[in-house]
Amino acid sequence: MKTIGVLTSGGDAPGMNAAVRSVVRTAIALGMEVKGINRGYNGLIDDDIFDLDIRSVSDIIHRGGTVLYTARSPRFKTKEGVNLAVENCKKHGIEGIVVIGGDGSFRGAQELSLCGIPCVGIPGTIDNDIACTEYTIGFDTAMNTAMEMVDRLRDTSQSHDRCSVVEVMGRHAGYLALQCGIAVGATAILVPEVETKMDDVIDKIKKSQTTNKKHFIIIVAEGVGDVEGIAKIIEFATGIETRATILGHVQRGGRPTVRDRVYATRFGYAAVQLLNKGIGNRVVGMSHGHIKDYDIYEALNMKKPFDMEMFEVANITSI
Ligand code: ADP
Ligand code: F6P
Repeated sequence: MKTIGVLTSGGDAPGMNAAVRSVVRTAIALGMEVKGINRGYNGLIDDDIFDLDIRSVSDIIHRGGTVLYTARSPRFKTKEGVNLAVENCKKHGIEGIVVIGGDGSFRGAQELSLCGIPCVGIPGTIDNDIACTEYTIGFDTAMNTAMEMVDRLRDTSQSHDRCSVVEVMGRHAGYLALQCGIAVGATAILVPEVETKMDDVIDKIKKSQTTNKKHFIIIVAEGVGDVEGIAKIIEFATGIETRATILGHVQRGGRPTVRDRVYATRFGYAAVQLLNKGIGNRVVGMSHGHIKDYDIYEALNMKKPFDMEMFEVANITSI
């Protein structure tokens, strides 16, 4: 391939810029040209495409968000949208594309690959919910942000002998909630993958009260939801003043951690190596510390296990 494109799509994630930088630098080192595509698949449809050189990605490795902007593009889910995108690829001589995003973005990448524009996906989402990889760009930064925010809530909960019920992101998945819950020493972690009865949460709080515990943190994955309702139930059943907090989009921003920058750089390098060999319709991922790649269709049909052992560790250590 002589010319490849790069885009970021779906929800942004800290570390996406490091991946863009890596894609551009690797491709140029291999003798290719690189086009930046703004706002995900919308940029392909609207012909918002521009040249990237080695210096155009300077000073972005440490920045959150994505310099290529991102979007959810309903138009790309239509035949007309895909046809326009393919026409614009041809117009700019784009022979392959690196798509940085979540599983929705990979469905788009599969569609484009089937239309003759080979794509390679890089997992980028704070949710870490992509089955073919142990790690997705943004997860570590988001976990650390959530942990820091909950540490602050702990201060005020402790001062007031209160309970804090905190919602963290993750869409339908509880991976962010689980790790964050362990890191903040939450009394209970509620995730969509494990059915938890409110009575059990309340019993646990009451039991801890008997051993002199006076303030509590409950982490709730957004896939479980209704933190206000949960807070009311806890306050009513235990008599402990309880406040609900939704951390929200603060978890999506900020300077990427070391882990996010390094993984993003490795993923970007690996994705370009594939396109350079003419290989598309793949997703790169991390398995036991090694980078692997998978057929997009297979990747989308894999199931990610929930770590029940870690869930048990969280439960035992928070008595
Ligand atoms: P994420 O990539 O974070 O999972 P979305 O699910 O919103 O985010 O997907 C991002 C974009 O990928 C969508 O807005 C759409 O443009 C594209 N996309 C998602 N599903 C499909 C599909 N089945 N066919 C074509 N494009 C898709
Ligand atoms: O997929 C990342 C994510 O932040 C999810 O955790 C959350 O459910 C969703 O995106 C929020 O999407 P939006 O930015 O469109 O509100």
